[in-house]
Amino acid sequence: MKEVTGFSKFSKSEKINFLVDTFFEGSSAIRSQIESFWHENEDFQKTFDEFSENTVSNFYLPYGIVPNVLINGEVYCVPMVIEESSVVAACAKSAKFWLSRGGFQTEVVSTKKVGQVHFIWHGPKELLESFFKGIVPQLRESVSSMVQSMEERGGGIGEISLVDKTAEEPGLFQIFANFETCDAMGANFINSVLEAFAVKLKEEISKSPLFSEEQKKVDVIMSILSNYTPECLVRCKVSAKVEDLDHRGLEMAPEVYAERLKMAARIAHLDVYRATTHNKGIMNGIDAVVQSTGNDFRAIEACAHAYAARDGKYRSLTNIEIKDGVFNFSIEIPLALGTVGGLTSLHPLARVSLDILGNPKASKLMEVAACIGLAQNFGALNSLVTSGIQKGHMKMHLFNILNHFKANEKERAEAKTFFSSRVVSFNAVKEFLGGLRKYH
Ligand code: MEV
Repeated sequence: MKEVTGFSKFSKSEKINFLVDTFFEGSSAIRSQIESFWHENEDFQKTFDEFSENTVSNFYLPYGIVPNVLINGEVYCVPMVIEESSVVAACAKSAKFWLSRGGFQTEVVSTKKVGQVHFIWHGPKELLESFFKGIVPQLRESVSSMVQSMEERGGGIGEISLVDKTAEEPGLFQIFANFETCDAMGANFINSVLEAFAVKLKEEISKSPLFSEEQKKVDVIMSILSNYTPECLVRCKVSAKVEDLDHRGLEMAPEVYAERLKMAARIAHLDVYRATTHNKGIMNGIDAVVQSTGNDFRAIEACAHAYAARDGKYRSLTNIEIKDGVFNFSIEIPLALGTVGGLTSLHPLARVSLDILGNPKASKLMEVAACIGLAQNFGALNSLVTSGIQKGHMKMHLFNILNHFKANEKERAEAKTFFSSRVVSFNAVKEFLGGLRKYH
């Protein structure tokens, strides 16, 4: 392909022409396909176009619902945006299972966000430390107008400290600040405050008589929030008497089932290969809720995995204990979510999701997302330690393959019966449909 210049300046139609001509030999069918995913409401389409850059169309993802999620005594319908088959079904099944066993109990432990100004300064660290303590009020003062409305809502800036990283890198220090951003995810607020801190730090050092000319040189490398928010933490658990875990179709004693679930969680605690898949499943649930509400799932993912490795080894985010005949299944996860600002207010379906959830505060959304993560993990472990994961997956896989071959209702019903006791593969389904179609 030839290099293209000025692509961002092309109109939307010119961008599509370029793609169609370059990659599809000018195919009008492909042009129509790309355009067929535009929203018919021009205002909505403009909103979507402006979320990002160089937009030419929309990429659809399924928007599904998990009903009957009982959280602290209240029933929720939870929207999920995810393309992977079986995830919504697994969460819905788990939610229903726990609905009749007391539901999910949740607790938001803390809601602190974090930001850092990373800078290089050379000199005696005791001098910088005592100077820094003295300028904290000036740092706060320098951002007072920015912080005012956040403070009116009950948030603002928490502790501000100096972190010495010189043992790892000569001259490296950080301003480390905590923030409370209430119902906003708060990225813009935090980053603006940090950039103002960086300016003020340089200014205060440059005018201080405590420093030599050489020591007045401060090199601010960057000012940015951290997506690692271990103190923006939520806990969620379900519990039931082991005997109450019994359910229709369980082909083992509930005691054996409980021990197998516990061992599955233990393996994910011990083994990084399993922990990664185990946590991936949890994030299937959490990311889908995060996406449906217009939150940033990359931030949530990055933080969850860093937290999973907080003791130096990557481990499971969930835990199972069996004590005095009671099965306890829990998750502890940092989730820095917002319910106001950003895409949460701009994306029309994110707004619908928040309405369905009863316009929750950010802390409530943390609880909901954690419950869905736990529900997904329960669903996955339940399949893994009983029938195996493929049984459920294959059913969905079969439907996807049948869709690929545009199977009609009759063919779908016959395929469902035929493959109920056989291994599903692309070729097997193709052959089966070929056979059916030959004789009809
Ligand atoms: C698939 O997307 C997720 C699972 O692999 C999770 C797990 O193994 O726990 C089923």
